[in-house]
Amino acid sequence: MTEFALEIDGLDKTFGGLHAVNRASFTVPHGSLTAVIGPNGAGKTTLFNLVTGLYRADSGEARFYGVSLHDLTPVEVAARGLIRTFQAARIYPGMTAIENVVAGAHLHLKTRAWQHMLWLGGARSEERALTARADALLDLVGLSAFRNVAATELPMGGQKLLEVVRALMARPRLLLLDEPAAGLNDAETADLAALLRAVRDSGISVVVVEHNMSLVMGVADQVIVLDAGSVVASGAPRDIQRDARVIAAYVGGEVAS
Ligand SMILES: Nc1ncnc2c1ncn2[C@@H]1O[C@H](COP(=O)(O)OP(=O)(O)OP(=O)(O)O)[C@@H](O)[C@H]1O
Ligand SMILES: [Mg+2]
Repeated sequence: MTEFALEIDGLDKTFGGLHAVNRASFTVPHGSLTAVIGPNGAGKTTLFNLVTGLYRADSGEARFYGVSLHDLTPVEVAARGLIRTFQAARIYPGMTAIENVVAGAHLHLKTRAWQHMLWLGGARSEERALTARADALLDLVGLSAFRNVAATELPMGGQKLLEVVRALMARPRLLLLDEPAAGLNDAETADLAALLRAVRDSGISVVVVEHNMSLVMGVADQVIVLDAGSVVASGAPRDIQRDARVIAAYVGGEVAS
């Protein structure tokens, strides 16, 4: 039997008269990489906001490894291992790149706060291990040169990659990424694609909202197409590319070209 990292079951959300997410249902098999695509305003970010507890669904629910996420706060959702990034990069100002990445691990710090304050042995070796891991991740996405630079000084593409590796520091079981390739140049996008494959291959399930079709088609195991809040198509990248409804949803032929 397939194990599902995420089950979206009839999720529905209306803002005033606007049906932002319309009885959306799909599943994310454990260990898979799912892409959610659709035109601007299709409800992609709202879907993430519903899953992560920022918004309450009018009806329907999301389940994370079989457990309902209904009524959980964003902090509780994250503590269970469901970690997201935001469409507009949210790096921590006043911190260097490496400090930003290490900060992503705070959810999983085993030692207590007072130990950190007193800088006792356990905390120190844990901090050292976290820094080593953060350095390895920075290296993986080609950001080592920016290690000690204020994160706000990084180019936009670098800030987006930084947010992804910071999310990984929380050791997610499921990672939700909202347009991680926005603002990335071709080389950075290739780094991101390699990182996403490596993440998936390490057993972490991934859902990525993305407009960059070559990235989506290159990394996704399955593609979910949202239009006006509804799931209008789903399947393997090759099938989705041929789907007339998908091409229609992307006026201008972004998918077809
Ligand atoms: N908090 C809110 N209050 C009112 N309307 C909202 C709210 N959040 C989203 N919407 C509306 O819901 C619809 C879906 O928005 P959403 O941000 O989910 O789209 P999206 O698919 O992520 O688009 P994009 O590709 O531009 O990021 C839009 O019409 C948007 O204006
Ligand atoms: Mg969005």
